[in-house]
Amino acid sequence: MTEVLLEDLDHVGPATAQKLKDAGFTTIEAIAVASPAELANSAEIGESTAAKIINAARQSADVGGFETGDLVLERRKLVGKLSTGCTEFDEMMGGGIETQSITEMYGEFGSGKTQIAHQLAVNVQLPPEQGGLGGSVIMIDTENTFRPERIAQMVKGISDKHGIEYDPEEFLKNIHVARAFNSNHQILLVDSANELANELKNTEMPVKLLIVDSLTAHFRAEYIGRGTLADRQQKLNKHLHDILRFGDLSNACVVVTNQVMSKPDAFFGDPTKPIGGHILGHTATFRLYIRKSKGEKRIVKLVDSPNLPDGEALISVTTDGIGDA
Ligand code: GTP
Ligand code: MG
Repeated sequence: MTEVLLEDLDHVGPATAQKLKDAGFTTIEAIAVASPAELANSAEIGESTAAKIINAARQSADVGGFETGDLVLERRKLVGKLSTGCTEFDEMMGGGIETQSITEMYGEFGSGKTQIAHQLAVNVQLPPEQGGLGGSVIMIDTENTFRPERIAQMVKGISDKHGIEYDPEEFLKNIHVARAFNSNHQILLVDSANELANELKNTEMPVKLLIVDSLTAHFRAEYIGRGTLADRQQKLNKHLHDILRFGDLSNACVVVTNQVMSKPDAFFGDPTKPIGGHILGHTATFRLYIRKSKGEKRIVKLVDSPNLPDGEALISVTTDGIGDA
């Protein structure tokens, strides 16, 4: 796919392109899914021009139309599987975490969501023979829980496992971490992620994994009270579609985490249900419920999947990383 610039769209001259960029519409995709009013207001252009630009963007970005089943099948053939490091877990997932899908991990504090995210950030860099996708990682870290030291320990773990001396420094260089300071910032970072993925697309290490840890913490903290629930849900919904689109465009895995409370939480409803609810109903999404077991053991339950039976896998979280229990 060759990159299309905003300036290449019909009805967009250099001045309009600049206005669009200033207003945050930095990609064709962003324009394609905007409403004419939204675009007209933020880029100070007429609404009919805005509509024409949106149409041009839709054609160029190939969004918003119908796709025939054979094309969907073609795209599905490209789906890659990323190993978790635990055989039982991989088998439950039909081989590993899939690209072009969002995989949501939800569970209580300390259940191991961030640990699994770190392990995936290591594994994705391995060649396919070793369960990886030979790619790099973008991590949106909302709780400041990314730990390079932990990555180094896990790289040592896989070095021992495969009998190959891997260099932790090399792995750290392929993990692009951004702190998200609030939910708006988090949403904007997906645009940056798309830009970075574009830059790395034709390199040796294209982006094959996007992690958002935690997907919901900022939303949960910022939207308090019933009145703002619809607002929050709408924003979260758009954000999820942005990241799913990222997974499609880059044929990458998208892994998000979501904390649930052990204590019933009136605002967010059933504590064993992730706070995003079922807004992702029609998108291909794997939902994993993680809970603590004895010592270093954790139970991962596949709760919801478009094409796999529900199941459970026992994993272990040790200094070496995620492994068989
Ligand atoms: P929240 O983000 O608070 O919702 O929790 P989480 O689900 O992200 O939990 P996280 O992945 O941070 O898990 C923390 C747990 O992992 C710790 O309580 C330990 O049991 C385990 N853990 C983390 N680091 C190590 C380590 O270096 N060695 C071992 N053996 N276990 C570790
Ligand atoms: Mg965590």
